[in-house]
Amino acid sequence: MCGIVGYIGQETALDYLLNSLRVLEYRGYDSSGIAVYSPKAGIQILKAKGKLSNLIDLTEKQKIAGQVGIGHTRWATQGAPSDINAHPHSNAQSEIVIVHNGIINNYLALKEELINQYKIKFTSETDSEIFAHLIGVFTEQGLGLKEALQATIQKIKGTYALAVLSKKEPNKILLTCHEAPLVIGLGKNQDLFCASDSSALMQYTDQIIRLKDAQIAELGENGKWVIYDEKGIVINPEIQTLTLDPLLMDKGGYKHFLLKEIHEQPAILRKLLGVHLSDDLQIQFPKLDPKVLKGINRILILGCGTAYYAGMIGKIVLESLAQIPTELEFASELLARPSVLADEKTLVIAISQSGETADTLLAVKTALKKGARLLAITNRPESSLANLASGACILTQAGIEVSVAATKSFTAQILCLYFLAISLSETNKGLPEKQIEWIKQEMRYLPQIMEQTLSRAENYKKKILPYATKKAFIFLGRGLNYPIALEGALKLKEITYIQSAGYAAGEMKHGPIATIDEGVPTFSIITPGPLYHKTLHNAIEAKTRGAPSLGIVVDEDKEASQELDALFYIPTLPFSAEYEHLQDLFTPFISVIPLQLSAYYLAEYLGKDVDQPRNLAKSVTVE
Ligand code: AGP
Repeated sequence: MCGIVGYIGQETALDYLLNSLRVLEYRGYDSSGIAVYSPKAGIQILKAKGKLSNLIDLTEKQKIAGQVGIGHTRWATQGAPSDINAHPHSNAQSEIVIVHNGIINNYLALKEELINQYKIKFTSETDSEIFAHLIGVFTEQGLGLKEALQATIQKIKGTYALAVLSKKEPNKILLTCHEAPLVIGLGKNQDLFCASDSSALMQYTDQIIRLKDAQIAELGENGKWVIYDEKGIVINPEIQTLTLDPLLMDKGGYKHFLLKEIHEQPAILRKLLGVHLSDDLQIQFPKLDPKVLKGINRILILGCGTAYYAGMIGKIVLESLAQIPTELEFASELLARPSVLADEKTLVIAISQSGETADTLLAVKTALKKGARLLAITNRPESSLANLASGACILTQAGIEVSVAATKSFTAQILCLYFLAISLSETNKGLPEKQIEWIKQEMRYLPQIMEQTLSRAENYKKKILPYATKKAFIFLGRGLNYPIALEGALKLKEITYIQSAGYAAGEMKHGPIATIDEGVPTFSIITPGPLYHKTLHNAIEAKTRGAPSLGIVVDEDKEASQELDALFYIPTLPFSAEYEHLQDLFTPFISVIPLQLSAYYLAEYLGKDVDQPRNLAKSVTVE
């Protein structure tokens, strides 16, 4: 979603701004812009709709000098994507220039006030422009820039990360935020940076300060910075060390980040197993205070999109292994179900790759207010979610996920949930000890089975491409493969834009079957386990009504392979005749891979923007 960057130091600001905006491209955006101050030219603003390359073209035509500047990538919320609506925005005198992430809820009332009382003319359709005018009104009344910003945020209701430049106080950048992330980077040569996503800073520094709600930061010359709390008192903030690996922002020889990230999954699972499963098969959470899990009698899982589907799998394994009643809710729907939150014996598990998803953060804050305990499963230790969880975190260790479509973070989230389910099963006396031992032993082979599955990528490609022109797809699965069907449908629609839906296979004949014909293939996950035959019959029912039938089956499959049109074989999964009821336990980690790869190969074949699909953002920071 929208991204903010800023630079003040000894060097040419433009280079830093463009480099940082390039890093933020992965978050998804529809326009971009920069503002740079120089004593000669004042504040120069350039902005352009579309890809960052359009902005770069503009900067090549016009000389932009200056050592202080701010930049933005915009994902439209209020006002269509256009040159005019792109940030930065300025006040009428072009003295105050701002970039903003977030939404002003009382925008209409403030706009009316500015028009009626101060005769201000708005140039864009955005709510963000309000910030520039309000700060301008207060500086006109004689306030200094910091005081004007303080007065402005008193009037704003909504969410914001904001960076401000001013012609009157030119050699500084002012920053503030409320429920939107903003990070300051302390460079080595008296350079100061800011960004809404720390990944934009990692090429310059690993020393960062996370700005907290209502604080104001002033970044000045010669590396001087100061941070004020909401009362205007100077504070001594915590300086954190960033642990992101810049190499992960490289495609490493793959055509797209998505393909690279799909192939990274075995290594990530191996790393997670190394952290959480000791050689003597003890589950460990090195950074988790055991108090968080003690005495819980109910679990509520929250997430959005792919993280929610990981939560669906989590619900099944937590209930079947730990035998703790577990509810699951879309973070965005929790507000509509306030009674869903129980007492302090309820553990809320918030799952979020970015740790910055606005819906998830809001749901978590609501839960915390009611006394719930929080455990975060996130990929970003420095994120707002990790901060809210104050250390009660399981990190997915997946490294930066650049492609908008989540893949490696999904399988990593599931594995973390399995660790949790096993550990709670042990303390809660869920499954018998012997069965838990078997699970722990077998899960160590997952990375290897994933590698074998990934080595079949070219075969999956051959199998899926004949269906590239189909108008829609239906994904079917039961039990642990139902969330995988939903995830397969989400991946396909996100990156190919082909209509696709996932259903619990048993639901097919209660409605969705009416939509199928020869233009709508069904993609069924028919892997061994108690639900095998039921799923197979659902696939056949669709086939007999004209739908081309694709299926994921295991190598030694005997029945489904005779019925379907296209077979996506996966390696045989761990099995013990003694524990037949656990036969499908590991399936999701493997069955998702042909679906991820199929979505990728179709999108690539159709010439879509695989890593940055239209209209989508990597981290959805508005509700
Ligand atoms: C997944 O492919 C999507 N891009 C999206 O559904 C994503 O999983 C969702 O927005 C949640 O993001 P988070 O994990 O960063 O909270």
